[in-house]
Amino acid sequence: LWKTDNIIDTHVEAIRELVGEEKVLLGLSGGVDSSVVAALLHKAIGDQLVCVFVDTGLLRYQEGDQVMQTMADKMDINVIRVNAQQRYYDALQGESDPERKRKIIGELFIRIFERQAKELDDIQWLAQGTIYPDVIESAASKTGKAHVIKSHHNVGGLPEDLALKLIEPLKDLFKDEVRKLGVSLGLAPELVYRHPFPGPGLGVRILGEVKAEYAGILAKADHIFIEELRRHDLYDKTSQAFAVFLPVKSVGVVGDARRYEYVIALRAVETIDFMTARWAHLPYEFIDLVSRRIMNEIAQVSRVVYDVSSKPPATIEWE
Ligand code: XMP
Repeated sequence: LWKTDNIIDTHVEAIRELVGEEKVLLGLSGGVDSSVVAALLHKAIGDQLVCVFVDTGLLRYQEGDQVMQTMADKMDINVIRVNAQQRYYDALQGESDPERKRKIIGELFIRIFERQAKELDDIQWLAQGTIYPDVIESAASKTGKAHVIKSHHNVGGLPEDLALKLIEPLKDLFKDEVRKLGVSLGLAPELVYRHPFPGPGLGVRILGEVKAEYAGILAKADHIFIEELRRHDLYDKTSQAFAVFLPVKSVGVVGDARRYEYVIALRAVETIDFMTARWAHLPYEFIDLVSRRIMNEIAQVSRVVYDVSSKPPATIEWE
C-alpha cells in the first residue's frame, strides 16, 4: 500500500539526516520531476535549498514567469532565474540538424548551470529529479540494450568536476508516485499532471534553424492549442499535444489582401508508453476552432495543419 503522507515523512527525515546543515543546489526545469524534488527538499531543509532555473527561451508560453510565481513567490523557495534566452538563440544560429541542436542546447545548459554553481561557493550537494524509470533507462542504454533513437539529457549529463555530493530523492519512485507526491506537497494538479515536454523544448519543435521570432510564434500557437484542449476537457484524453513551427511560407488571404506567412502544425497523440502512439482523433469542430484562433490571433501564421501520422513510422516529435 502506497501512502503519500508516509512517503513524505520518510523522505523528509532521510533528507534531513543526509544533508544536515549543508546546502543543496537543484536545477529547476519547470518540469514535474524537478518541481517535486524542489517542493520535497524545501519541506525538508527550507532555505538550505538553492534552485537555479535557466530560461532557455525555448520553454512553453510564459513558462519562465510561471515557474517563478509558483516556486519562488508562492512556495517561497530560493530560486535564481538565469535569463539565457539570447545565449540559446545565438548558440543555435545557423544550425538545423536535430541531433546537433539537442547537443548545443544540452551543453549550454550544463555550462550555464556550472557557472552558477561555482558562484554559489558554500554548496555541498547537487539534487536531481531522477526517477526510477530514468535509472532503468540509463542502465539499459549503458549496456546497449535500449533502443536509443534520440539523445535525452535527463540523466548523467551533469558536471562531475563540481565535486558535489549527489542527492536523488525520487530515485525509487515511478512517475505516478511522483505526481501523487507533488500534489500532496501542494503543487497544482495542472502542473503535476502536465503532458511531457522534451528537454530541448521548442528547440526541436521549430523545424530547422531556431530563431527568437519563431519561438515567439510557436509558443503562442501552442498556448492556444493547450488552452482549448483544457477548456474542452480533451487535455487529459490526449497523452501529449503541442504545436510545431514550420519555417515555410504559404499564401493566405485576409479581406482583399494576400498574405504570405508561416505554417503551424498541430500534433496530438494517445499512447501508453510513448514507444508507439496513435494520432488523436480530435473532433473536427475542435480542430476548426483552434485553427481559426491561431490564424486570427497570430498575424505571422496563415495556415494550420493537423498531423495524422502515428508512431511508428512517424515519431511523436517532428525532429
Ligand atoms: P519521439 O519523438 O521519439 O518522442 O517519438 C517520444 C517521447 O520522448 C520525448 N522526447 C524527448 N524528451 N529530450 C527529452 O527529454 C529529447 O531530446 C526528446 N526527444 C523526444 C517526446 O516529447 C515524447 O514524449
